[in-house]
Amino acid sequence: MTRKDLLDIESLSRREIEHLLDQAGPFKELFTRSVKKVPALKGKSVLTLFYEPSTRTLSSFEVAAKRLSADVTNFDVPHSSVVKGESVRDTIATLQAMRTDYIIVRNKMAGLPLVIARETKACVINAGDGAHAHPTQALLDGFTFREVFPKPEGKKILIVGDILHSRVARSTSTLMRKLGVEVAWLGPGSLVPKYGPEDIRRFTNFDEAMQWAPDSIYLLRVQMERQDAPYFPSLREYTKLYGVTRERFKRIADQGIYIMHPGPVNRGVELCDDVMNYSRCLIDQQVENGIAARMAVLYWLKPDENSPS
Ligand code: CP
Repeated sequence: MTRKDLLDIESLSRREIEHLLDQAGPFKELFTRSVKKVPALKGKSVLTLFYEPSTRTLSSFEVAAKRLSADVTNFDVPHSSVVKGESVRDTIATLQAMRTDYIIVRNKMAGLPLVIARETKACVINAGDGAHAHPTQALLDGFTFREVFPKPEGKKILIVGDILHSRVARSTSTLMRKLGVEVAWLGPGSLVPKYGPEDIRRFTNFDEAMQWAPDSIYLLRVQMERQDAPYFPSLREYTKLYGVTRERFKRIADQGIYIMHPGPVNRGVELCDDVMNYSRCLIDQQVENGIAARMAVLYWLKPDENSPS
């Protein structure tokens, strides 16, 4: 089965997720070869349309598309007619006229990738829409988790931080649960939603969450830019209660717990510097795996000839 668009994780079956993770494996093997390119998407065009800043997602999509031999154009939003007031809809119509094959979009508006997907023939990939979804982050997280736990069923992941504003937490929690991984959330009561899946354990106390015995701790970035109201007194207070401080890190390392983070990292807030040199810190592995996971997605999606022209 193929799809035209990748908009979220909810709509993917476990079989589809496992297929994508399986596909990412051989793509990652390519990276060790002297020639890292395959001709799978030769002649295809990929357009990245990022209305929000990005380092990892944007560059890794670009590398992924180029390794599949596609032509890549980065739509330069700050220097485009968007700043002259052109609407997203008109921008899409313009891009549609260029007959691009893939549009990769990031925007602060939840649901915008779906709107674009309905209006274009191109395959649309959601690279993050507001607090809604970040499906390729979830896929690279799942791929990384499976590298350390080839049988993820029954393993435990503790996601720590600003769950409320996090599209990463939403997508990665969904994907992990679909793989049979047990998920728990930890954070200030104001940032851990009480609604949502009942099988997700909620903690507001770090020590209690550690007693749950997670196999991996996934630290979220504190997103100051998405908070329209103060959800905790100060960053210092946040770090004291929820950060991986040197003291907490010693316990985590003693127990051999893996650490993940989607980036960008706020050093001294979510984690202390020591974590970055920890042998079970998977942050760099996540970045590398992002390219393989995104190659798998680009390779899997297929345009729908019946969709609007
Ligand atoms: N993880 C993530 O989405 O990072 P960027 O914002 O750098 O793309």
